Amino acid sequence: MTSLVKPLKIAGVGYNVPGSVVSNNDLTKLYETSDEWIYTRTGIKERRVVSGEQDAVDLGYEASKMAIENAGLTPEDIDCIIGASSAPPEVYSLACNVQSKLQIPNKIPAFDLTAACTGLIYALQVAKGMIGSGIYKTILIVASDNNSKLVDWTDRGTSILFGDGAGALVVTESDDGIDDIIRLNISADGNIGHYISLRYPSNNCPLVEQSSKIDDGKIHMAGKDVYKFAVTTVPKYVEECISEANLKAEDIDYLIPHQANQRIIEAIQQRLKYPDEKVISNIKYYGNTSAASIPIALAEGVKQGKIKLGSTAILCGFGAGMTWGAAIVRLRQGIC
Ligand code: UT7
Repeated sequence: MTSLVKPLKIAGVGYNVPGSVVSNNDLTKLYETSDEWIYTRTGIKERRVVSGEQDAVDLGYEASKMAIENAGLTPEDIDCIIGASSAPPEVYSLACNVQSKLQIPNKIPAFDLTAACTGLIYALQVAKGMIGSGIYKTILIVASDNNSKLVDWTDRGTSILFGDGAGALVVTESDDGIDDIIRLNISADGNIGHYISLRYPSNNCPLVEQSSKIDDGKIHMAGKDVYKFAVTTVPKYVEECISEANLKAEDIDYLIPHQANQRIIEAIQQRLKYPDEKVISNIKYYGNTSAASIPIALAEGVKQGKIKLGSTAILCGFGAGMTWGAAIVRLRQGIC
């Protein structure tokens, strides 16, 4: 019996990071810390930050343009945009703003989903459903975050970790019957959502009692809890995803993990028994760029020759919510 579900093709990838670099040494001007402390605990040396009027929409637009071009398409070919952002600069919404900047003439749907650092994998799942059912044929996924506007720059426990950036994927209905998503699992546990929180600045109506919650628009994180969660849950989850696909870790060419902490990346690497050349890590230069970190690592990895195309990769992410997910994907020639 032939399947009625239409297969998905990853047609193009792109990324963009801002030009301004903030090194660990620069951070010593803000608070008591050191390059050595940050690097040994996180693997981060520097991060990129937006400046002036630039924000996640600009980064997302550039990443999208690159992904569309790499897919051999033009903005007019896109028939839906899914934005993945932890907190877009304009809440209503990253995807609509990118649609406008791309000057797409048709009023194609554009919306955001929020799954923090797992946003790209959640967006891929939504796109898979849309393409699979034939609703849309060509979807732009744009993952972009300007964390530097959201961290409390007096909190050395969180502000050392984050950076800004964007990644984008164009996915289309596959014309050769091959589905580039071999397996995709997503999960969430709202009971531990308090590990990372960001509440938009807001106040109750002045006529009623005010809330005691901290609605300061800044990222608050219980770093140790997040770390423990990540190293216990994510490596096992990745392994389960591989076995549910009836594969073995050695059958997959690359691990492209969310870039949250080099020690967390190494915990996944050790579980899969992968040598360094199979593991894509650029956290040293960008820190944690939330939803953008996986597509940046993918697109940059291809550009730098670390990822050879005509291969397979396991993408995995985790973050606020708490959310987590893993996807085994085919990386065709020509996507970047
Ligand atoms: O997308 C998901 C994002 N989140 C993550 O992946 C976060 C995962 N967690 C982590 O990566 C780690 O928890 C951190 C790197 C954030 C922190 O490392 P830690 O080993 O958990 O440090 P800590 O917060 O327990 O702090 C240890 C000590 C404290 O001093 P005392 O109380 O022992 O005297 C902190 O005040 O280190 C101090 N400290 C610092 N010292 C120098 C905290 N931040 C800094 C700093 N520089 N930047």
